[in-house]
Amino acid sequence: MRVVIAGGHGKIALLLERLLTGRGDQAIGLIRNPAQVADMRQADAEALVCDLEAASADDVAVLLSGADAVVFAAGAGPGSGAARKDSVDRAASVLMAEAAERAGVRRFVQVSAMGAGQPPRAGSDEVWAAYITAKAAAEADLRARDLDWTIVRPGGLTDAPATGQIRLAPPPVPRGTVPRADVAAVIAALLDHPGTRHRTLELVSGDSPVAAAVQSFS
Ligand SMILES: NC(=O)c1ccc[n+]([C@@H]2O[C@H](COP(=O)([O-])OP(=O)(O)OC[C@H]3O[C@@H](n4cnc5c(N)ncnc54)[C@H](OP(=O)(O)O)[C@@H]3O)[C@@H](O)[C@H]2O)c1
Repeated sequence: MRVVIAGGHGKIALLLERLLTGRGDQAIGLIRNPAQVADMRQADAEALVCDLEAASADDVAVLLSGADAVVFAAGAGPGSGAARKDSVDRAASVLMAEAAERAGVRRFVQVSAMGAGQPPRAGSDEVWAAYITAKAAAEADLRARDLDWTIVRPGGLTDAPATGQIRLAPPPVPRGTVPRADVAAVIAALLDHPGTRHRTLELVSGDSPVAAAVQSFS
């Protein structure tokens, strides 16, 4: 399987690329900083330089040619302001989905976030509100498209080692945390189970093995 990952040098993306290449799939990461190519090679991933805040849908569609699946794992990240929550967390996901349609790549896994299901609470931090609003808009855009999408909403991400034990369920799931390594494993499993399309699934640490949890939705 040839999988193109938006935000290819992100923490989840690098873990996912290692999992995919380790099992014989091809992982292609879209990055905006050419200095990150060496790290991508270490993960045995191919790097394509593409700034998702500058590219057009046609530009990206060319990069998706021949792909079997797209994973949106980009994000403006901590320290960014409201404007980049919109230009990356919303607009770059919309761009990838539009490009996937144009390139005829039906399978699309989007990394969203717990909290995207409800409007931000009154009085919440402006940047947090912009983040949740951007994630919700990206989800809504994807649901409206003729794609085989799956939306994954992780809880708070940690850099702890993989446990392989998760709770994956339609919302609402009680808030919790989850290692990025387990999120990567869930995405890899979702790619193997196209029957999970058209589902929005929240993800925290739990007591179900990844394979069984994903299988139960396919
Ligand atoms: N933090 C949490 O607790 C939490 C919880 C739930 C969900 N999430 C979501 O999970 C996803 C992945 O998380 P993560 O920790 O793996 O993220 P991360 O390490 O911050 O990676 C995000 C990647 O997106 C890339 N990116 C940003 N702008 C870009 C652009 N214009 N063009 C191309 N790439 C661009 C970044 O590249 P640069 O190095 O060039 O900036 C970075 O490699 C994000 O969508 C995040 O919102 C996070």
